[in-house]
Amino acid sequence: MPVHQDIIGRILVLRVDNPPVNALSKIERRGLIEGIARGASDDVDAIVLTGAGASFIAGADIREFGKPPEPPHLPEVVETIEASAKPVIAAIAGQALGGGLEVALACHYRLAEAGARFGLPETTLGIVPGAGGTQRLPRLIDPMLAADMVATGKSLDAASALRTGLIDWIADQPIDVAALGHARSLAGQPLDERRLSERNVEPSPDAIEDLALLKAETVKKSRGAIAPGVAIDLVAKALQSPYDVGVAEERARFLELRSGSQAAALRHIFFAEREAAKGPAEAPRSIERVGVIGAGTMGAGIAMSVADAGIPVVLVEQTEAALGAGLDRIARAYGEAVARNRLSNDVADERRNSITGATGYDLLANADLIIEAAFETMDVKDAIFKSLDAIARSDAILATNTSYLDIDAIAAVTSRPSQVLGLHYFSPANVMKLLEIVRGRETDPTVLATALAFARRTGKVPVVAGVCHGFIGNRMLRAYNREAGLLLLEGATPSQIDTALTDFGMAMGPFAVADLSGIDIGHKGRQAMEPGAYEPAAFRVHDGLVSCGFLGRKTAVGFYRYASGKVDGENADVADIVAAARKEFAVSPRSIDPEEIVERCIFAAAAEGLQIVKEGIAARPGDVDVVYVNGYGFPRHRGGPIFYLRETGEAGLAAIRRYAAGPFGRWWPDVGHPGAIEPPGIGKSTDKDAA
Ligand code: 3HC
Repeated sequence: MPVHQDIIGRILVLRVDNPPVNALSKIERRGLIEGIARGASDDVDAIVLTGAGASFIAGADIREFGKPPEPPHLPEVVETIEASAKPVIAAIAGQALGGGLEVALACHYRLAEAGARFGLPETTLGIVPGAGGTQRLPRLIDPMLAADMVATGKSLDAASALRTGLIDWIADQPIDVAALGHARSLAGQPLDERRLSERNVEPSPDAIEDLALLKAETVKKSRGAIAPGVAIDLVAKALQSPYDVGVAEERARFLELRSGSQAAALRHIFFAEREAAKGPAEAPRSIERVGVIGAGTMGAGIAMSVADAGIPVVLVEQTEAALGAGLDRIARAYGEAVARNRLSNDVADERRNSITGATGYDLLANADLIIEAAFETMDVKDAIFKSLDAIARSDAILATNTSYLDIDAIAAVTSRPSQVLGLHYFSPANVMKLLEIVRGRETDPTVLATALAFARRTGKVPVVAGVCHGFIGNRMLRAYNREAGLLLLEGATPSQIDTALTDFGMAMGPFAVADLSGIDIGHKGRQAMEPGAYEPAAFRVHDGLVSCGFLGRKTAVGFYRYASGKVDGENADVADIVAAARKEFAVSPRSIDPEEIVERCIFAAAAEGLQIVKEGIAARPGDVDVVYVNGYGFPRHRGGPIFYLRETGEAGLAAIRRYAAGPFGRWWPDVGHPGAIEPPGIGKSTDKDAA
């Protein structure tokens, strides 16, 4: 039974039971309405509404969003709860999210376990709350906090929820016991004034003004995602309109957004991330001690990301000086987190102290996992892996953070190739969510399962990749950058290309990224590649800038000029370098519109992604999308390059065929044929009314 009914004394306990997170599908919605009806009978004085297992209710069942409507809908459920003549107490352990929080808000009292969390993450799915969340929350807590919660999807912990008035009590004994105690004490009492929906709030002009400012900021940050701005409008509506008016508007906007392409894209990426995190059936080993080799930017970031998950780390460098610099970098980063109120002093100290520095490998003898993040050459990796093989426990996992090198070749220098894999972090490693887990030819399934579990424990979004130059993400990036470089040659300027792509929603344009990471880095990488492995014309301007000493931000001149760390216009010298490259490759410039810029760059990444799937380097198109969204600044609300290409259908494939027939078209993989893109899968919304 999805909503269990138990009478304990004169208290009715309704327990939602839909593992793993008690999402509300139509069966639970119906069960809740039946449960509240049961509570009307004379043998019940009060009702406790709770969840089975570790979660209260994690929201509406997202899987239903793509299916035909099935009543009762959630607004009916929350109205039924609120209208109950018997007091209803929400007893919340774990997550009260989305529709789950809306159910809790409709209850007359809220009791929570200390570890509970509360949030309205709907905007992360491209929608807004659809059952009163945007109207009840600002009536209950500070409207600015409510607006921030609905716009960002950020959740509150129980202590903050209590402080802000979102909940009434934190349980100081097991939640079921505490809930029964509160229910008994409320039995027979008239409901207090918490039936907030009936109350109009007095609009505060200050809050309306602040909300307008928050909306402007949010829209700017959202890179084209619609839902966050709409959510703030709805909070403003709550402050200015009667509940019924606000809630009708909320429902209309929910339905409109739910059937839109952004919601479909965000649902796709939600499920794709979870799919990508699944691995072999083997039980993962436990990872309790980690070693990191190299205390540069990458190694220090990796060490912090592991320490942040409560796992002790030994950080190894070759010299005291290099180690000191790495530990200083870590101390500074934690110091900044404290200064920005992201961490308390105590927590920052605890994490920093869990990182032990060393200049030899002795302390690694007991590590369960050792991650190498040293210099990116095969000689260096060979030497390190040979030494690690000699010192590490025989069952320890040895990982390399290489971005490009052959993991099978690295594994082959050890006596345990089955224990070796790639853990490709993205910079800054303690912030960026993506972790490419690169399985070698001989990587043991248990090792892979362990790496996936470790990734999730350290808060990463893992994707498994096979061995090839650049794995999934950097291989796609090469195709994307290739088209950007060619567009430069064919007539667009760096800022036209960057603007077209940031208008599309990319976090940064390719030339701004090149300046940030250092144009010389890619240049060195290309020098190490086989001739013929890349298109020289696409990177001739980059190479020209490097020979002039224009390396990007670090020299204050690259594709752009920089003053005090900010862009101060284009670098006028680029035009001469471009002119020389055009001459060399016999390209006549033409005018290029933003649509072509976006198509060329994004479809190039998508086409490479499809090829990567075809070769078995990625298991599924969704994995490719997860990589580009989480590691390369692709706008999440567009679902990833392959999802985006799919949405364009035959027109997208026709464009790929056209580009493949162009002067440098030999680089496009053969994916421009019908059937290359699968039909849209999960996440494609067709109906108008569910949840
Ligand atoms: N609907 C359907 N399935 C859901 C779900 C939901 N709301 N939330 C989680 N799941 C599924 C996941 O797909 C996954 O399934 P799988 O095992 O088959 O892959 C399983 O539950 C476990 O999820 P996670 O792997 O994410 O487990 P975690 O423990 O890491 O996280 C969580 C739990 C924090 C609850 C996380 O799953 C989450 O954030 N869920 C989404 C919450 C959400 O967005 N709720 C709002 C929904 S929209 C809504 O309520 C509209 C309303 O206003 C009308």
